[in-house]
Amino acid sequence: MLCLHSGLDASDMRAAVEAGFRASASGPCDEGGLGAGEFSGEPNPMLPKWLRRLRRSEVTDRVMNDPRTTMGTVLGVSPDEAKRGAAGWGQADFDEPWRDLSPDDRVLLYAHFFQLGHLEELVTAFGRLFGGTDRPRDLIVVDLGCGPFTGGLAIAGRFDEDARLDYVGVDRSQAMHRLGARLALAAEQVHELPRIRCRWATNIQTVPWDDRPGWRPVLVIVSYLFASPTLDVETLVADLDELLPRLGRGLVSVLYTNSARDDANRQFLIFCSMLHDRGFELQVDEVGDIDVERGPAVKNRRLRYALFHRPSRKTLRLG
Ligand SMILES: C[S@@+](CC[C@H](N)C(=O)[O-])C[C@H]1O[C@@H](n2cnc3c(N)ncnc32)[C@H](O)[C@@H]1O
Repeated sequence: MLCLHSGLDASDMRAAVEAGFRASASGPCDEGGLGAGEFSGEPNPMLPKWLRRLRRSEVTDRVMNDPRTTMGTVLGVSPDEAKRGAAGWGQADFDEPWRDLSPDDRVLLYAHFFQLGHLEELVTAFGRLFGGTDRPRDLIVVDLGCGPFTGGLAIAGRFDEDARLDYVGVDRSQAMHRLGARLALAAEQVHELPRIRCRWATNIQTVPWDDRPGWRPVLVIVSYLFASPTLDVETLVADLDELLPRLGRGLVSVLYTNSARDDANRQFLIFCSMLHDRGFELQVDEVGDIDVERGPAVKNRRLRYALFHRPSRKTLRLG
C-alpha cells in the first residue's frame, strides 16, 4: 500500500498553493469529531463479514440466480456489455431502459460490477477517519451521487449501535435510490447497526430536511461522481453551500474518492478552489493504492483520494 505521488502535478500544485490551499500530510483536525484523514500506509480493513454476506444475498445471488443469466452472460448480456453498455462504466442514465434491461436491472449490474471496489476504498478511508475513540455520535452523512447506498454501507459499521446517523443520498437516478433503500433495509436485518435515518433526493436543492440546524458534524461523500458527463461542479458546490446551513453550523468534512485517471478528475481543481473560497482546508490529496482481497489473492487498487475540513462556525458573521 503506497501513496506514490500527489494527485496534483507541479504546476497544479503551484496554482493551488497560490490560491491559498494548505495541503498538510497529516495532523488532527481542530475539533474532535472527524479526526485526521491521512490515507497512506494504512492497513486495509477488508469488508466486514456482514457486508460481504449482504452483497452476496442482495446483489451477487440476485444476478447469478436470475433466469436470464447463463454461462457467459449476466441478465442475458455479456459481462463486457454489462459494464460498458448497461452500466456505462458507472456513468449511465440509469433510469432509462437499455436493450431488454430495465432501470433496476442496470442498477443491479452496476452494484455487481462496480460497487465492491468503491466500498473497499470507503471502508478503508472511514477506518482511518473514524478509527479513534472520539467518533461522533450524531453524524449527518450527505452522499453526493450516492449510487445504491454505497457510502452508507461503508460507514454504517464504523459506529456503535447506540449512535445516531442521518444519511442523505443524492442521486439523479431513482433506480439507484430503490436499490439503495433495499440495501439499507437488508443491512439492518443482517447486522446490528446504529440507527440510520435515510433520505433520498435527485438533487441537492430538493433534499428533504426539516430538523432545526444545530451543531452536528457533517460528512459529505463524493465517490466516483466526478467522471459524470452531467456534473456541473459550480452548481454542485453552490447548492451544497445552500444545503449546509440548513443542516447546522458543525464541522464539515468532504471526502473525495475517484479513479486515478486525469480525465475523471478534470473538474477537481475547480472543486478545490470553490471549497477553499467557502472556508474549507484541503488536508490531503493523493493518488495511490490500497490492498484489496480478491478470492485468495490480494491486489492493488489505485485511486485518487482527497479530504477537506471546515471547522464549525462558532463566530458571528456580520452582515
Ligand atoms: C459511478 S456512480 C458512483 C455511485 C456511488 N457513489 C459509488 O461509489 O458506488 C456515479 C453516480 O452518480 C450519479 N450521478 C451522475 N451525475 C449526477 C448528477 N449530476 N447529480 C446527481 N447524481 C449524479 C449516477 O446516477 C450514479 O449513481
